[in-house]
Amino acid sequence: MKILVIGSGGREHALCWKFEQSKHTTDLYCAPGNAGIAEVATCVKGNLNDVEGLAELAEKIGADLTFVGPEAPLVAGIAEAFAAKNLRIVAPSKTAAQLEGSKIFAKEFLARHRIPTAQFAACDSRDAARQARHSGFQFPVVVKADGLAAGKGVRIVQDQQEFDEALHALMGERVFGEAGARIVLEECLFGREASLMIFTDGSAYQIIAPAQDYKRAYDHDEGLNTGGMGSFSIDGLIDEALLERCKREIIEPTLQGLNEEGYPFCGVLYIGLMFTEAGPKVIEYNARFGDPETQAILVRLESDLVEICEAIVEKRLAAFDVKWSAEASVCVVAASGGYPGEFEKGKEIHGIEEASQVEGVTIFHAGTTFNEDAQVITNGGRVLGVTARARTRQEARSRAYEALGKIQFERMHYRRDIAD
Ligand code: AMP
Ligand code: GLY
Repeated sequence: MKILVIGSGGREHALCWKFEQSKHTTDLYCAPGNAGIAEVATCVKGNLNDVEGLAELAEKIGADLTFVGPEAPLVAGIAEAFAAKNLRIVAPSKTAAQLEGSKIFAKEFLARHRIPTAQFAACDSRDAARQARHSGFQFPVVVKADGLAAGKGVRIVQDQQEFDEALHALMGERVFGEAGARIVLEECLFGREASLMIFTDGSAYQIIAPAQDYKRAYDHDEGLNTGGMGSFSIDGLIDEALLERCKREIIEPTLQGLNEEGYPFCGVLYIGLMFTEAGPKVIEYNARFGDPETQAILVRLESDLVEICEAIVEKRLAAFDVKWSAEASVCVVAASGGYPGEFEKGKEIHGIEEASQVEGVTIFHAGTTFNEDAQVITNGGRVLGVTARARTRQEARSRAYEALGKIQFERMHYRRDIAD
């Protein structure tokens, strides 16, 4: 089978790495890919916002199956563009992808189906936001851009001054563009977070090994929110009783609600959870695999990913038994200095080869490319996801950090407390 992966990050490198191992894969393509993906797949040009162009590309290369990594093409309607050409794709419809594309859509959906989540107010001006805050929320309060902001559109503000600054940045300066035209205020929840993802064909679902993401830029959860600075996945991250509760109170009502409203979800649904004293609550939905959770998750996946994808598109996931390794995994992201703010690109990266020799370690590239001398250079905020598997979390963690110690590029930055 010819497989096409859409995207260019660490998640897509992990997807390509896993697809490449399938006995069903004869040809693997990635649009647009990165320097690491180029080692396992044929990288082809592709614009993530041009879903018609991506469908034409899939048709041209004769892709039997396409898998979408990032949110932009999902929200732009890639499922519909592929369906129009009778091409097989693992992707939710444009409407179902609104669970990620609009925080207001997601919050209103959660409220309609009485799925536990933080109290919220949707606001379309700074005045409305100030009024809503004054009448309904105490500090700290969470301020979120309604639209897509690469995981960076969320501020937890402690007082009026920070609140005004957040409103100014999101709605005044529009640092995330039109994503900040409307905002959501949320009650601030407290508790442990986990990312729970499922494979779903619209009715049946299979739980994906849970992972924990580290969103803040610096150790001890300091600094701004990023797309994710590291992750780990272990058995028992969410214990059986809690998982049952998540299924009953969150996953099943979500799938049922989507069905009732006429847009069943097909693909990978990501549910960001907070385990509060009052039980598990939904923080966000994503319509796709998380990044960097996927890097930690896929090294634990023992089933064939092509077979899982076929079961999703053919709606026979109920009978599919997804198998996971009992081992633990840890992914530590090496980022460009300055990320998630401004950073420079084009720095030569050294030591990848040596690092990948460390037992149990796989290096997934994110923002990398080649310079004119075919050397691997940095090309984004998150550069590499150094991922290790081992019997225990501690062992996986020490393998990942041992490998990271062999990698250098100018102003490389990484958290030292991932999976601690
Ligand atoms: P989101 O993009 O909605 O997942 O938010 C990014 C991060 O902000 C989450 O992973 C949480 O750490 C934090 N966050 C979002 N919403 C809340 C909330 N209501 N209460 C506390 N923390 C939150
Ligand atoms: N790591 C969080 C996300 O992918 O949205």
